[in-house]
Amino acid sequence: MAERIEVLLTEEEVDKRIQEIGDQISKDYAGKKVHLVCVLKGGSFFMCELAKRITVPVSIDFMSVSSYGGDTESSGVVRIVKDLDEPLKDRHVIVIEDIVDSGRTLSYLLDMLRSREPLDVRLCTLLDKPDRRVVDVKVDYTGFEIPDEFVVGYGLDYDQKYRNLPYIGMVKFE
Ligand code: IMP
Ligand code: MG
Repeated sequence: MAERIEVLLTEEEVDKRIQEIGDQISKDYAGKKVHLVCVLKGGSFFMCELAKRITVPVSIDFMSVSSYGGDTESSGVVRIVKDLDEPLKDRHVIVIEDIVDSGRTLSYLLDMLRSREPLDVRLCTLLDKPDRRVVDVKVDYTGFEIPDEFVVGYGLDYDQKYRNLPYIGMVKFE
């Protein structure tokens, strides 16, 4: 099926918002260190841009969970594909996600991370589709609330394509 990409958020809009979130996090964690946990692969572009704009000391780690196949609907099945390299004990953790959709992935992930005795865990997502929520999750930092559209770019993919777009686009199926 052929698809077309329509711009939803420009590169300038996304960059500006990431700077604002970076400033907010730097303020909220003044005098502390933050440990950013990136959810691969989608969260990686956002995390790199955000980390550069945080002025308190930052450490990073990565984990990978599977919730989507080649389709655009969540399977509800969450599996850890790659776990973190380091323990979370006594750290201020911020989970960095590309998008919160149904909330299933995050709800599972946050419970698991909290069981590892961090000082606290907050959630930061570039995009949020609140209309799609099935499981309640508290988001601490949100880039943009967006309508119920399937989006790509800035790390987000459709069937592993379009992650490298420097803006957020909507996938339109003809
Ligand atoms: P959830 O468990 O339904 O909240 O799904 C979260 C994950 O689904 C995200 O981390 C993305 O990998 C993927 N996802 C959800 N919506 C979209 C979208 O619009 N475009 C690309 N990936 C999406
Ligand atoms: Mg993701």
